Amino acid sequence: MIIAVDGPAASGKGTLALGLARHYGLPHLDTGLLYRAVGVASQAYENTDQFDSEAIAAARALDATQLTDIETLTSSEAGSLASKVAVIAEVRRALFDFQRSFALQAGGAVLDGRDIGTKICPDADVKLFIQADSKARMERRARQFEARGQTVDRYALFHQIEERDARDMLNPNGGFYKADDAHLLDTTQLSIEAALRAAIAIVDKSMALKAGEHSFS
Ligand code: C5P
Repeated sequence: MIIAVDGPAASGKGTLALGLARHYGLPHLDTGLLYRAVGVASQAYENTDQFDSEAIAAARALDATQLTDIETLTSSEAGSLASKVAVIAEVRRALFDFQRSFALQAGGAVLDGRDIGTKICPDADVKLFIQADSKARMERRARQFEARGQTVDRYALFHQIEERDARDMLNPNGGFYKADDAHLLDTTQLSIEAALRAAIAIVDKSMALKAGEHSFS
């Protein structure tokens, strides 16, 4: 079973994808980490003419050892750099095969990101599109940073999230929209536990419907 989980920054998609992966015993890939790692690797060239070519080279050379420094990769700076390298078509192409092979491994997988249901796994068994209003997303991200002992300027964080949303939505090479066959889950008013219960209910119902369709064909 392949489960695709998409949604904007700090919508809760990563937490939900991990919860689904644990619930169904599937491997999980946070695809945002790939873009974040490429962004961090190209940081020294930000605002130079070499930024694109360095990002493309970094995407082509990316390996799993660059995905382990979670604290650096999940910083807001890395998020912002990720959204800058994510607009480069060659970067997206270079990261496609890794994501696609992960999805196609025996037994299936859960992937979360922006374009999983639209581009990486248009054939996923179940697609979820996670949404939450900007203020709720900012507050969740702020609490994550505070839990690490960081001081958070909520006004600046809100601005950063809005800026990243805008860059992502305008990404000409993105595909950051809800796939027609994706289930929308708004987590604004939901606790993590309630959101996970809702996501599991959607997956179970979709798989039961699919099994029913197959038994009729
Ligand atoms: O999901 P996360 O916030 O970690 O993603 C960081 C950035 O990486 C996003 O803002 C987006 O620009 C990019 N991204 C992408 N495609 C994905 C996942 C993330 O372009 N599948």
